[in-house]
Amino acid sequence: MKEETKEQILQLQKKYPEKRSALLPALHVAQREAGYLPLEMQQEVAQLFDIDLNEVHAIVTFYDMFFDQPVGKHVIHVCKNVSCMLRGSDELIEHLCHKLQVKERERTADGEFTIIPSECLAACDRAPMMIVDDQVVGPVRKEEVDRILNEAKQKERNHA
Ligand code: FES
Repeated sequence: MKEETKEQILQLQKKYPEKRSALLPALHVAQREAGYLPLEMQQEVAQLFDIDLNEVHAIVTFYDMFFDQPVGKHVIHVCKNVSCMLRGSDELIEHLCHKLQVKERERTADGEFTIIPSECLAACDRAPMMIVDDQVVGPVRKEEVDRILNEAKQKERNHA
């Protein structure tokens, strides 16, 4: 971890009565450095908080907003919860993965995309929906996928 990143985390800790409360924002700061949170980075964060690596790892793997492996420039969260599932999210995820020749959570060969199935993303009225980078898109029809992917590619977006 860069000194600068470490310093930002230490400053964050000072903003809370309990430094542990700064853990989630600290993970965001750490993730910004490499675009994801490799195990060594998780270990360094754990040390800064005087907690066990397992605690940090549990958080990183629980929340969809943290990545423990490299992701594409554009992350697409596709809701797989009830409303979206009933309106075809399973097929949508399958279609996206097939189209991009990638498995869920993997990065495409060209480094552009990662598809992450997610729990309810709070836009059930737009089912089936997804979040492309930070933008809510939906309801999504399979025929629109090409256009959505192309539009995303035009934007220089990186989750680092
Ligand atoms: S169930 Fe998909 S956004 Fe809520």
